Amino acid sequence: MTRSLESIRADFPALERRENGNGVAYFDGPGGTQVPRPVAEAMTDYLFHHNANTHWVYPTSAETDAMLEDARGKFADLFNATPADVSFGNNMTTIAFHLSRGLARNWKAGDEIVVTELDHHANVAPWHAIARDRGLVVRTIPLDTRTFRHEADAIAQAISKRTRLVAIGAASNALGTITDVRAVCAMASEVGALSFVDAVHYTPHTLLDVQSIGCDFLACSSYKFYGPHAGVLYGKRQIVDTLDIPKLEPAPEAAPERLETGTQNHEGIVGAGAAVDYLASIGGEGGTRRERLARAFTSLHERGDALLVRLWEGLVSIDGVTIYGPPPGTARTPTLSFTLRGHSTEVVARHLVGRGVYASNGDFYAKTVAERLGRGEDGFVRAGAACYTSEEEVDRLVAGVRELA
Ligand SMILES: Cc1ncc(COP(=O)(O)O)c(C=O)c1O
Repeated sequence: MTRSLESIRADFPALERRENGNGVAYFDGPGGTQVPRPVAEAMTDYLFHHNANTHWVYPTSAETDAMLEDARGKFADLFNATPADVSFGNNMTTIAFHLSRGLARNWKAGDEIVVTELDHHANVAPWHAIARDRGLVVRTIPLDTRTFRHEADAIAQAISKRTRLVAIGAASNALGTITDVRAVCAMASEVGALSFVDAVHYTPHTLLDVQSIGCDFLACSSYKFYGPHAGVLYGKRQIVDTLDIPKLEPAPEAAPERLETGTQNHEGIVGAGAAVDYLASIGGEGGTRRERLARAFTSLHERGDALLVRLWEGLVSIDGVTIYGPPPGTARTPTLSFTLRGHSTEVVARHLVGRGVYASNGDFYAKTVAERLGRGEDGFVRAGAACYTSEEEVDRLVAGVRELA
């Protein structure tokens, strides 16, 4: 049986925080979720009892090696991959910049990279930067501002025999839109191009399966799914093994360590692995980790969808509210962006703090989305449901907006 909301909430000390007499309602999950006790405890245990650098003969070093491998195994289960395909880095942005430098060494001037208007700039800027350095051409898949999606024709038009890589987001951190990355990766592979999937906003909401997606690379960040600030990359071992990536000569040659420059954030990696276990724990007892994860995500999906409907219906009933993003019941995450006529997004977010509701505002680095939707720097107010979000919190958010309206 999957775990109840009450038992999940009891794991998060952050939920004990109070603001103006209310328990704090954290709707800022798309920017970074709260951390449950078992994750912080795993990190403390590492730092207190096993802390060392890697690959030496004494016990704490061997324990560190084993704990990092263990974390790779947990991510292999989350991705449906093998541990050798899993590498760690600072965050998704740094991973993308690093990988772009290695990949582009095989490309020549005039080769093309495909990016999108819907993506967070972490999946846009690294590809533009490397294109500038190496004389590559960047093609951009436009956002359809009526559907908040990329239309299939527009994707097909951008990908051609000249494409070397398609950089595509699995879910939009600004609008919640889920993109059919499986179809996009198939189109990339048909023309012999590589695919890089930004799964940072997708990973907390849907169980990943890199085999089914068919991508070559996929990156996520554990601080978006109840872990610490650490980035994780799935990269096909056959590609990574021969990648001409910047690295120190004495550092390991083989995948996945080939990608990991310098000493890693060991406690962060241990905590990231513990976050995968935490997600699996939501799926209850019994079965493999992957099976528990599958049950957990089914349950998170159901709850997230119900919360999204409640939030959507509450907000559309308020005069002056505009919601940006695909409606409930379509392929999307429970992350909703909106504006309130006559008030800047900052004023709305500040007003909500008064009710103990923490929601982010701005463009969330999905700058092109904000521009295309005519929102510019003011952007949106963004509310994201997480595994600890309750109906009472959603109602409190809606009441806060209604009060201001
Ligand atoms: C969809 C998406 N992609 C990429 C990023 C960047 O991730 P990181 O902070 O790990 O570099 C974010 C962060 O908000 C995001 O939401």
